Amino acid sequence: MGALSKRALGAALMEQYITLFACPICQSSMHVYEQGRLVCAANHSFDIAKQGYVNMLTHGATSKYSKSLFESRKAIIDSGIYDAIEAKIAECITSANTVLDTGCGEGSHLARIMAEKSKGIGFGIDIAKEGIVAAARHYPQQIWCVGDLAKSPFAPSSFDAILNILSPANYDEFKRLIAPNGCVIKVVPQSGYLQELRAQLYADSSKETYSNEQIVARFRESFHKVDVERITYTVPLAKELVAALLEMTPMGWYKKDNTDILLNEITIDVEILIGEA
Ligand SMILES: C[S@@+](CC[C@H](N)C(=O)[O-])C[C@H]1O[C@@H](n2cnc3c(N)ncnc32)[C@H](O)[C@@H]1O
Ligand SMILES: [Zn+2]
Repeated sequence: MGALSKRALGAALMEQYITLFACPICQSSMHVYEQGRLVCAANHSFDIAKQGYVNMLTHGATSKYSKSLFESRKAIIDSGIYDAIEAKIAECITSANTVLDTGCGEGSHLARIMAEKSKGIGFGIDIAKEGIVAAARHYPQQIWCVGDLAKSPFAPSSFDAILNILSPANYDEFKRLIAPNGCVIKVVPQSGYLQELRAQLYADSSKETYSNEQIVARFRESFHKVDVERITYTVPLAKELVAALLEMTPMGWYKKDNTDILLNEITIDVEILIGEA
């Protein structure tokens, strides 16, 4: 697919769902201008990139997440180690037509969840441009935005489901964006998450285990009818994925020489928090 057609494809998809966008500067409605920009009623304008995503950041942002980190995340997610989590999320949101993944990174979770549920449109937003560039390149069926959750470019009550997978949350913003009867799903790592890796990186260190009790408590305060489900399993890890696993997680950043890390399986241990608007 040529560069021009990807921009046109992205623009056409955004035009179809234009009422879900709102200007991140003045909150007014938007339209697609000549398949190249999103423009609001007050003439604030945001370019649609040749890869088919739109950049709606209103301020400069530096990200600690690099292109190669996102490539590693994609390799790990593609290997299927998060399949059970994606399947659980897809099952919870089968009837959702509009899904927003907040802090979507390189987009694989959202793309796989939307493929599994085979209905509706996915929007992914992330402050890291490198993540969104990768998402748009691999998954042109969804809508991708560079943007800050604190100033998100969407209209109120726009999304039937809001996902927040291993990423920072903004509950006030989630409450603004969620449609009546919609749900918010947050995935939080638990004490066994990647434990084989942490045991080798942090032997004798307090970083070896961690707890997310406060996150769960705040989620309970913010949403109604909260349901919490823990998912824990251990899966084999192919040798060639060890380097990707080390690069995709901030844990790996502390260790310069990774050649002595030996892993042939890895544990996934998360809580899935599901709340209603
Ligand atoms: C650990 S990564 C998880 C990415 C993806 N959900 C996954 O599981 O592969 C956290 C992501 O949150 C994004 N993020 C952090 N602060 C953000 C903000 N204020 N607005 C949008 N995205 C943000 C980061 O850029 C990063 O891609
Ligand atoms: Zn505006």
